[in-house]
Amino acid sequence: MKPGSEDCSVTVQPPPQTGSAGGSARTLPLDLQAFLTREQHRIHLVGVAGSGMSGIAALLIELGHTVSGSDKVSTTETDRLQRLGLRFREQHRPEDASPADLIVFSSAIRSDNPILGSARDRGKPIVRRAEALAAIMRSKRGIVIAGMHGKTTTSAMTAHALREGGLHPSHYVGAEIPILGTNAHWDPRGEYFVAEGDESDGTIALFHPEQTLILNIEEEHLDFYADLDAIEKVFAQLITQTAGKVFYNVDDKNAARLCRSFTRRISYGFGETADYRAVDIRLKDFASTFRVNHRGQDLGEAALNVPGQHNVHNALGVIALASELGIAFEKIAKSLARFEHARRRFEIKYDSPRFLLVDDYGHHPTEIRATLKAARSVGRKRVLTMFQPHRYSRTKALRKEFGRAFDDADRVVVTDVYGSNEAPIPGVTGQMIADEIIAHGHRGVCYESRLEWIHRAIGNMLESGDLVLSLGAGNIHEQLSGLAADLVIAEKLKEIVGEDGEVCLYEPLSKHTTLRVGGPAQFWVEPRNEKAFAELIRFCRDENLPLFVMGRGSNLLVRDGGIRGVVIHPCGGDFDKIEINGDEITAGAGAKLKEVAYAGKAAGIGGLEWLEGIPGTVGGGLRMNAGAMGAQTFENVVRVRYLDADGEAHIKTRDELEVYYRNFPLLEKNFAVSAVFRGEPAPLEEIVRKLEASQEKRRTSQPAAKSAGCIFKNPDACPAGKLVDELGLKNSSVGKARVSEVHGNFIVNDGGATAAEMLELIEKIKATARAKRGIELETEVQIVGEPG
Ligand code: EPU
Repeated sequence: MKPGSEDCSVTVQPPPQTGSAGGSARTLPLDLQAFLTREQHRIHLVGVAGSGMSGIAALLIELGHTVSGSDKVSTTETDRLQRLGLRFREQHRPEDASPADLIVFSSAIRSDNPILGSARDRGKPIVRRAEALAAIMRSKRGIVIAGMHGKTTTSAMTAHALREGGLHPSHYVGAEIPILGTNAHWDPRGEYFVAEGDESDGTIALFHPEQTLILNIEEEHLDFYADLDAIEKVFAQLITQTAGKVFYNVDDKNAARLCRSFTRRISYGFGETADYRAVDIRLKDFASTFRVNHRGQDLGEAALNVPGQHNVHNALGVIALASELGIAFEKIAKSLARFEHARRRFEIKYDSPRFLLVDDYGHHPTEIRATLKAARSVGRKRVLTMFQPHRYSRTKALRKEFGRAFDDADRVVVTDVYGSNEAPIPGVTGQMIADEIIAHGHRGVCYESRLEWIHRAIGNMLESGDLVLSLGAGNIHEQLSGLAADLVIAEKLKEIVGEDGEVCLYEPLSKHTTLRVGGPAQFWVEPRNEKAFAELIRFCRDENLPLFVMGRGSNLLVRDGGIRGVVIHPCGGDFDKIEINGDEITAGAGAKLKEVAYAGKAAGIGGLEWLEGIPGTVGGGLRMNAGAMGAQTFENVVRVRYLDADGEAHIKTRDELEVYYRNFPLLEKNFAVSAVFRGEPAPLEEIVRKLEASQEKRRTSQPAAKSAGCIFKNPDACPAGKLVDELGLKNSSVGKARVSEVHGNFIVNDGGATAAEMLELIEKIKATARAKRGIELETEVQIVGEPG
């Protein structure tokens, strides 16, 4: 689908004396400039939430009109406008617009919009956003900032420099600009009006400004233009319609060629021929400095607080323009030094010594290259990029250029296309762009189709020293915000576990479970000692964060959506320690039960050999009262040290503890730190014989494939494995989850199985046991996490 502006049968009439009506393309006897700037009317804006439309709404309110507006979404901007007096409706109903004397519509609105339809039927004047803007501008001395890249930044810089220069400019720019206060403002005191010209739909040809600043011209918006020639025609018209001077970037070959024949031209750039020239350019982390030379004369030094060479160009354009308007260089330089970025233009979302998160609106290959260059020059170790292509038409037309745009990124994760108002084009996907980048020779690229998972992909790659950049004009920035919010917590967790502890974001739990399935842990934390563990418990309690403790993950089935909150994996450091004292063995929660059995062998302590057959850790074995060879954990445990829900340590002896078959309720709300196992002195040969018997039992009766041990508790009537066997379910499968042919109580992962498949198979077995034998099987394996 083409943008609505094309579909609409409204004809654009050149301002100033006309407004255009839909359908019949009649020219109404409407002096739009007077109507908008000297009179007061009721005006309705269709698509008022768009960044351009909200600016028009703000101007019209400030001009004294009674303004209403409709959109299918409300935004913070519509909220703000409502506080200024906008009557807002979150749907397009003709009755809400019927009192209006004029309808202004966004180019994103389709021709079959009910308000436009009704206005056409009633012969009401309808104008496009750019027509309204052009008419408003004609009542002042207009300055249009045009070009493919950098318009918002440069128009904001211009308005700011003119404001600091005391000229009280009115302005209209395409985004929220903190330093200007709002994206549009009408200042009755000043003569100038600075506007960002939108070339995307040809409407910059409507402007008749006094001054024009051309930043760059190249192929873009090929959904609207046939080719570069068509784009240049529109720019050429704007140049011809400029009453005063045209400022242009002489380093941009298209802009330079187009302006060459215009007599009242002023050039700027880095080359020697530029009228305003930057020399001695020094690019720093987030800033740059340069000296400005005007036809051989040094004007002084300018310092910018926005990064990248492209911003030196933008600032130079502003210096040229403001100087020609008579503002002293010192004043301009001072204002530029104070200039801050527009939202979503290299906007820093998170900054710490370990990580830097930056969001940028860049969505064209040239912008992406410039932004990545700026990101690279910041000097962090790596640049990780998440990219959301914007519009199917652009993605298709510039696929090769996108393929070459990411050379300055160490890693790139590409998600699917943000369509804006376009319908999908078959085959035009994020995968296509990822393939182009790979074909270009980049080795750090992957594709993540689910936008809501892209921050996980990047977050899990994070290493100290990384800069993360989100790129795209759609909603990818929300993913970066999500990552920033989680990073705040992750950094606090890191502080708690200290240098030797480990904190990872979105760690795939399939890496930490023996079944090899499971989505990510939001925060994966490895403390190395009891103090850190206790502090983590208190932090989660205070921050209201869910907390889950995980050992080896040998008795665990994590759902595909992973575990929300903090997953603590006590391992290494104190948690792996095993100490022998007489016939007692003290083992940390992270030690493997197998190692306890072998420590017993080394010290001549028998009775623990069966632990050899349990694949879990001490913590996990305690939690489940794990068993094998007819024995269970608490037959050997004499004392347990644990932390309570407030992180306080306690020790309890066996006789104080309530223990059941495969269940130790104390650890539902408390957390094991260590346990003391007791065996009895035994001859080495006897220990070795029992260890070998256990190994033999495992080898002969249990599968070697990836599993979570026994899936079901043994019901009283019959061991679960035998039951499943008798039901004839061995080898039955769902996807890659399969009942082992070796042991009926094991489900194995044949490679790439999902938790959903595992759960479906479990349900199938339970239903069969119920139907055929009247036995209610209960899972022994712990099932946790969110569905995928
Ligand atoms: N059996 C069958 N068909 C099978 C599996 C078993 O007929 O497919 C029969 C066996 O021949 C035996 C009986 O069922 O007569 C019990 O089987 P097994 O001796 O293998 O013991 P289990 O009760 O299935 C228990 C533990 C295992 C532990 C073994 C070995 C439970 C739920 N399971 O299995 O623990 O390794 O004993 O001591 O108590 C675990 O908990 O994850 C685990 C693997």
